[in-house]
Amino acid sequence: MDLYNYTPTKPFKKKHLLSLKDFSADEIYQIISLALKLKRQQQKGIPHPLLKGKTLGMIFAKSSTRTRVSFEVGIQQLGGYGLFLSSADIQLGRGETIKDTAKVLSRYLDGIMIRTFDQQDVEELAKYGSIPVINGLTDLFHPCQILADLMTIYEVKGKLKGLKLAYIGDGNNVAHSLLLGCSIEGIDISIACPKGYEPEDQIVKLAQNKGLSSGSKISITHDPKEVMTGADIVYTDVWASMGQEKEAQQRVKAFANYQVNAKLFSLANDHAIFLHCLPAHRGEEVTEEVIDGPQSFIYDQAENRLHAQKAVMVLLMGNNL
Ligand code: CP
Ligand code: NVA
Repeated sequence: MDLYNYTPTKPFKKKHLLSLKDFSADEIYQIISLALKLKRQQQKGIPHPLLKGKTLGMIFAKSSTRTRVSFEVGIQQLGGYGLFLSSADIQLGRGETIKDTAKVLSRYLDGIMIRTFDQQDVEELAKYGSIPVINGLTDLFHPCQILADLMTIYEVKGKLKGLKLAYIGDGNNVAHSLLLGCSIEGIDISIACPKGYEPEDQIVKLAQNKGLSSGSKISITHDPKEVMTGADIVYTDVWASMGQEKEAQQRVKAFANYQVNAKLFSLANDHAIFLHCLPAHRGEEVTEEVIDGPQSFIYDQAENRLHAQKAVMVLLMGNNL
């Protein structure tokens, strides 16, 4: 599969990016392929104002560095404008309904990116609004992150299908989206987490189902060593996500044996790469020697948020290429 010269099997028809649940392998290839093209254009200084005059509203109910900056810079590079809307400042934070917010914002904007807690709120925004909605992270999913991850894996490994990803840590939003992204693209994914911190059963089942057609094998275990065998990609995330600050201490104890350190990392394939969505807690889920070592691609991964999201915005908000 050459994503630098990819011909889609069908035109891109999706209206929103709420999760990767209903995305096909081909639709994800289209996003990555366009992202690779936009990345080349940006690096060469070739203007690409594909969303000239369009406005993206960016609602944030949680903190962000990468998502906020990459969307804001991304829409600007596409000739559009990004409007930062902290949920603490808009009426949504004072109890205005999602329905009214969606209907009103649809009269002003060309697209909405939202980072919030409840996945249901993102789905409702899409249901009641008339413009594309992009999920910039909820407690359940982080689809934009995984599109950038798949792009990074493709750039480094030259393929997606047939690889194996080992995820060590919490069965959280990132793990859920990885389960979907990997199972759609034929990447084997093994998750090792402490008891009680497994990914949601329903999402594991969905991934297993997708794996039946893509060929991807899904496994969940409590043994971090077991998942490292044959791993081409080793991925981890924080032990306490945004909104779980009160559980942080308890989680440090529960996850003590799930640190990605040099000893654990050495059990993966020789050319395995290390990925982390960031922000990271060095000394907790990962040691410095791994995250800052030669096999870590965390900054390429972070950069690719920009390119992958530009592709998503063009495909959802543009007037077709
Ligand atoms: N990975 C990620 O989404 O980072 P931010 O929380 O900084 O946006
Ligand atoms: N699981 C983390 C991801 C941050 C990008 C969180 O939700 O805080």
